[in-house]
Amino acid sequence: NEKLPFTLVIFGGAGDLSQRKLTPSLNNLFNLNQLHKDFNVISCGMPDLTEEEYRNIIKTSLNKFVSEKSEKKWGEFLEKFHYISGAFDDKKMYEKIYEKSIEIADEKRQVIFYLAIPPQYAPIVIKHLEKSSLCSAIYEKKIVMEKPFGVDKESAKELNRIVLRAFEEDEIYRIDHYLGKETVQNILFFRFGNSIFEPLWNRNFIDHVQITAAETLGIEHRGKFYEKAGVIRDIVQNHVMQLLSLVAMEPPANFDADRIRDEKLKVFKSIRSMNSNYLKKNIVKGQYGPGKSGGKSVVGYTEEKDVGKNSKMATYIAGKFYIDNWRWADVPFYIRAGKRLRERVTEIYLQFKQPPLKLFGDKYNKIVPNGILISIQPEEKISVRLNLKYPGSENFPHPVEMDFNYKDLAHILSLDAYERLLLDCVKGDLTLFARQDSIEAMWEVVDSINEYFEHSYQGELPNYFAGSWGPEKAELLLGRDGRCWRFGNTCEFHEEV
Ligand code: BG6
Repeated sequence: NEKLPFTLVIFGGAGDLSQRKLTPSLNNLFNLNQLHKDFNVISCGMPDLTEEEYRNIIKTSLNKFVSEKSEKKWGEFLEKFHYISGAFDDKKMYEKIYEKSIEIADEKRQVIFYLAIPPQYAPIVIKHLEKSSLCSAIYEKKIVMEKPFGVDKESAKELNRIVLRAFEEDEIYRIDHYLGKETVQNILFFRFGNSIFEPLWNRNFIDHVQITAAETLGIEHRGKFYEKAGVIRDIVQNHVMQLLSLVAMEPPANFDADRIRDEKLKVFKSIRSMNSNYLKKNIVKGQYGPGKSGGKSVVGYTEEKDVGKNSKMATYIAGKFYIDNWRWADVPFYIRAGKRLRERVTEIYLQFKQPPLKLFGDKYNKIVPNGILISIQPEEKISVRLNLKYPGSENFPHPVEMDFNYKDLAHILSLDAYERLLLDCVKGDLTLFARQDSIEAMWEVVDSINEYFEHSYQGELPNYFAGSWGPEKAELLLGRDGRCWRFGNTCEFHEEV
């Protein structure tokens, strides 16, 4: 299968995702000799471009986004690209794609349809694909769908119904680029490739878990999208939920895609549902006001382009979740995600309970707890914090870290998230893609929060400065449980280690 030639049909081929991620990733895979030499790309979209003009767009994007700028190599790569312009609801466009696919390659190949388009176009394209010869006449077909997959559970179900009319579940690749990141994949290897951590990975030893997905970026030029999505649909329903499931799931029966996806689903189904009383106390909504980012003044959310002056959309969330199963009962999972925060950090941190006896005297009544940090970005590392005796005559415990850092393996071929996921799709490996039932279960978790944010939230917005660590209430969320974020406005816990 890996060696099967393929045609990639990109809907939205001249768009942002295609330019920033898809074509640079294909180019890197091509240069690394990871693709079958007989592959080609048919891009289609609304802009009226000649093939020549389209290839120039690709050239510009390669210039910007790939590190190896070898014009000579680009020539061969660019020849693989074709362009068809048309409207997504025009049947003729699909006929043209089909004719092109026959013209440029023989039949014995897989065709991968990649929807790199705004979500409202997805059902239109799929319905046309269902009716066109593209779906019936080809050797093997797959579809790659970008998030957001629907806007809530109901719309996700409807979209699933539509896509399942044209494709089998194992032909559907619902992409979440977080799953393609090396350290995210490593969570399962770290947990289930070692026997020393798993016995401790439960409510008996773990005090709480923190998941942070903090960005320094604002919403950039995506005001229209963000006004509909907000932080929950953009990050929490997908990336944060995936991280949560990997850290909380039970060992799968084997490493097959479906066995792993079964275990993730059980986690989503075990997340305690939240009523309005709970949400009020345990979920914090935030929106950034003006402030500083990277030393420069930046505007607040409501001053961004395409954003309503009175918009109440959330750009930040912090919350306390519980997973009601045997392993995690009563262990809080604190999550936070937001735009325009002080640092770009994505990480999972498991804090262990205090040792049962205080042996080192009153002064060390509380010691820095053991912790496991899985850092996804900017650093890709896993570290374990232990207490050891500080050198010298006095007896006092001192925290030290044992690290594994991916940069120490820089000489080994590592693929970025989109490269890895594109390759998996070509090979037919669904492990790192979301299944229909998980998508719906993830929506079920966040739908009540969205509902609360949209209809019942009472506080003032904006409530944090760009460049800070978010609203004060997010600190209190942990503070009142006697805990604190690994780092935040009032607590720089990480500096102790
Ligand atoms: C995307 C979101 O899915 O993830 C963006 O739509 C966000 O808003 C991005 O900036 C973050 O991805 P990464 O890989 O930079 O953490």
